[in-house]
Amino acid sequence: MPSANSYSNSASNAKSSYLVLLVLIFVATNYVHARLHFQKAQVRQSTVSNEAPPMYPHIFLSMGHTLGFIFNNPDFLKKASLYAGKLTSSKIRVFGKDLYLFQDRETVTKLWKAHSLSSPIKFYVHVLRHLFGMDERAIATYKADNSGPFLKQFPGSSVKHNNRIDHLTHEGFKRAFSGPGLAPMTHRYMKILDKKLCESLKGSGWNDMPDLLEFFRMVHGAALLEVVFGPSLIKVNPTFLRDIWEFDDSTPLLARLVPKFLVPKPYERRQNLHRQFRRWYAYARQHFSETCIYDDGDGDPYWGSELIRYQQRMYLGADGFNDDSLAAADLALVWGTLGNAIPTTMLSVYHVFKDPCLLHRVRYNLQSTFNGTPSTEIDPCILIQDPLLSSVQAETLRLYVNVCVMLSSPHSDIALGRWWMPKGAVGLVHSGITHKDGNFWNTKDGAQPVDSFWADRFITDPADPASGPTRDPAVRQAHASFGKPSFSLQGLEASWMPYGGGNAICPGRLLAKRVTLFTIALMTKDYDIEFSSDPIQLGSMKFGMGVDKPKKPIPFRIRKRHSS
Ligand code: HEM
Repeated sequence: MPSANSYSNSASNAKSSYLVLLVLIFVATNYVHARLHFQKAQVRQSTVSNEAPPMYPHIFLSMGHTLGFIFNNPDFLKKASLYAGKLTSSKIRVFGKDLYLFQDRETVTKLWKAHSLSSPIKFYVHVLRHLFGMDERAIATYKADNSGPFLKQFPGSSVKHNNRIDHLTHEGFKRAFSGPGLAPMTHRYMKILDKKLCESLKGSGWNDMPDLLEFFRMVHGAALLEVVFGPSLIKVNPTFLRDIWEFDDSTPLLARLVPKFLVPKPYERRQNLHRQFRRWYAYARQHFSETCIYDDGDGDPYWGSELIRYQQRMYLGADGFNDDSLAAADLALVWGTLGNAIPTTMLSVYHVFKDPCLLHRVRYNLQSTFNGTPSTEIDPCILIQDPLLSSVQAETLRLYVNVCVMLSSPHSDIALGRWWMPKGAVGLVHSGITHKDGNFWNTKDGAQPVDSFWADRFITDPADPASGPTRDPAVRQAHASFGKPSFSLQGLEASWMPYGGGNAICPGRLLAKRVTLFTIALMTKDYDIEFSSDPIQLGSMKFGMGVDKPKKPIPFRIRKRHSS
């Protein structure tokens, strides 16, 4: 006979099962309701305008989409921005906060033009604090700066000129990377890279190397670092470059806000880099004088460039800044300068050498344009007009760059056509999603899929009606009118966005293009490179901060060419 105890056990089991069932019914009903709401809003949006994007349905009531966002970032965001096979906009909830994910072309085009989204201070504060370790006194100056990036302050702002950190920072970047600093920086890169490449190889035969990325990080990375920061930074800190790349490898953890007590290494690396910057400041302050500035009017052996001399004056003149805060800002700048430019240049070079036919075309074009001109005397203004090289770089950025641009409008709601973005909300646009939109990009009827490299994707050839970057008829129109095969990014702003967009677009993009194109030219003209046949596979941890690392080393061999 069953005992009283076993009766009470089975009664309590039945009670628990009943409770679980109730919870499941509640969750399922909620989910179905959310799904219907999402679908209704998406359909309604084709006729009605000015409505905030609807919440993408989720099961975990308190967690929202946090797990998918943190652990499966690119795939989750892709799912959340598709409706009926097309890119759209939606709302997601991460750590209890609503984020707007804008991915359809119409909305993104409007976002890049919205004046009031041009100062993503919230984003700068988040990144400077969590990634680069800026102290709270300097962060407070950023937070208080509501004056905007332009010369004229936003209405209602009365921030003192020395604390207009957003405007002053961007002025410096503009002058350095797209104004008077661009040509001297490009020429310095050409000279320094040529020298460092020669020094890195032994003898005239093949040199076997264990990893292409490591080679680019240490040789090309050293060249680009010296262009902006000069030779003294490394001279007084011999391990700086290695430490920076180790820091780069830690950024996925810092971006996910993994606390120091769980994983102390990234925090220690960052502290160590701050110390190295401070050591360099002391050295440069002791040795620099105006007479050291190079004949190009920009570089010098201690601070490296006018940008760094300007930043020293400007940041130290702002409230709350000291050498520690300056070190955090410089760490951000070193990382921004090298972090994506070096791996994308490496990948461009990789694709050119990997395909013998492409390599032949690249060499042939360079020979026709520059004849026997030594590589370091190539005119970069002519080089960047080469459609094939430009297309190789654009295609590399399309295929590999995953950036998640953050936007916010602190003062007003923003109308974006079909959707609007509420005042104070945070918006996201993910390049990896639009870069692989099979509805937009030309795939030559599937022969050149969006997830593979096609060197000619960005070239429009008047003799080939099926050429050109897109299948969108309205955009194709803009690309069709040139007399010979040409490269153009016109009309692609809402689909090709490795550098972000709008006023906050990457200020280094012009220099990045010159760096990549010159590197391809130098290496194809003057070197032979061979790889094993294994295809390259990249990881997926970078969390919307650019290019991921290859999962495995890429062994190769390289030798100097004797006739170029
Ligand atoms: C292929 C190479 C590069 C890629 C894909 C890239 C991408 C980006 C992106 C997506 C942003 C954020 C834009 C936004 O928030 O809307 C950015 C910002 C920035 N980039 Fe680049 N970048 C590259 C190369 C460079 C280079 C070579 C430099 C310097 C010489 C540079 C300097 C910067 C700086 C200073 C910022 C911060 C701008 C700010 O504070 O608003 N970047 N970059």
